[in-house]
Amino acid sequence: MTNFRVRPALADTPAYVPGKPPAPVEGVQSYKLSSNEHHMDPLPAALEAILGAARTPHLYPDPSAHDLTAALAAHHEVPYDNVVVSAGASEGLSALIGITAEAGTSVVFPWPSFEMYPQVVSFTGAEKIAVPLADEGRMDLPAMLQAIREDTRLVLLCSPNNPTGAVMGQAEFDTFMEQVPADVLVVLDEAYVDFAPGSEGAASIRANGAGLDAPVDSAVGLATYPNLAVLRTFSKAHGLAGLRVGYTLAQPGIIHEMRKSIAPFSVTAPAQAAAQASLAHLDEIAVRSKEVGVLRDELAARLREVGIPVPPSGGNFVWLPLGKRSQEFADACMAAGLAVRNLGAGVRVTVGPQEALDRLVDIARTFIGK
Ligand SMILES: Cc1ncc(COP(=O)(O)O)c(C=O)c1O
Repeated sequence: MTNFRVRPALADTPAYVPGKPPAPVEGVQSYKLSSNEHHMDPLPAALEAILGAARTPHLYPDPSAHDLTAALAAHHEVPYDNVVVSAGASEGLSALIGITAEAGTSVVFPWPSFEMYPQVVSFTGAEKIAVPLADEGRMDLPAMLQAIREDTRLVLLCSPNNPTGAVMGQAEFDTFMEQVPADVLVVLDEAYVDFAPGSEGAASIRANGAGLDAPVDSAVGLATYPNLAVLRTFSKAHGLAGLRVGYTLAQPGIIHEMRKSIAPFSVTAPAQAAAQASLAHLDEIAVRSKEVGVLRDELAARLREVGIPVPPSGGNFVWLPLGKRSQEFADACMAAGLAVRNLGAGVRVTVGPQEALDRLVDIARTFIGK
């Protein structure tokens, strides 16, 4: 029992449940496929930058992350004031929700999607309007538009969507943005965008035969829609999840307000340095992202052959819509040394080394045959 008073909103706020580590299993190597981490080693240049910046732990980092912010602004060809760096995209997301939502307002988001959305929205006291996904785990943008109310301050979009992997197309995004009230902020969470085919920018092509659109051209989006903010992270394609560094691109007015929420010094010097080094080696990151994409598409195809209707994914993960059997499948994986993520409606599996994926397909084959 506590004898202090907390805000009523907390009663409704779920705590974040992180992906489980694998349980050790005699005689086999265990793999963690439950947190959408990158399974490859970090870039040597990033490691070197971390070591270089680790020599001054007695000093606070640059609170404005000036050099990284300038590098990001140059990379995205936007003014410096359109970028803010944060401790992961998570801190940027919390800031965006924090500057807009409060009790008496509402926030619209797709569901299932990133688990932090309901958590952070609830925390503010705002009402959660969770809009169910459409076929193949795609966001139902017309339904999300319908769900916007007078008191709605924010809409969250996630593309590729975690956990289903669906990528939003340019045309549906434009139709959506043209109809959203101008005073409602729209956040496009692109944590996984570098893994999506066609992420190099060609907006309207059908990127592969598996029915995935190329991702939205968010640079054009930012220039076109003043109420759009784009969230990115170094945790996924750049493989720097442990360092906690991400950023937001938006109009200076939005960035200015976010700075009031983001904790000073939240991005450490090694994190800033590693992100900058990684950004300078984007060609290598692109090669690795493509390799992850190949493993992902092979995994999805093999799981479909086994009989699981895995939707096309643009992330570093695939979605197994197993419904009520999700826990049973997650348990079977754990017993074989693989930690996967049961999210209730299905199981999300992060791309890992070939051996882990081969084992997963074997487990799935036996499981479906039961
Ligand atoms: C969709 C999505 N957005 C944002 C994040 C936050 O990433 P980070 O805080 O590590 O940058 C994640 C992490 O899993 C995610 O899945």
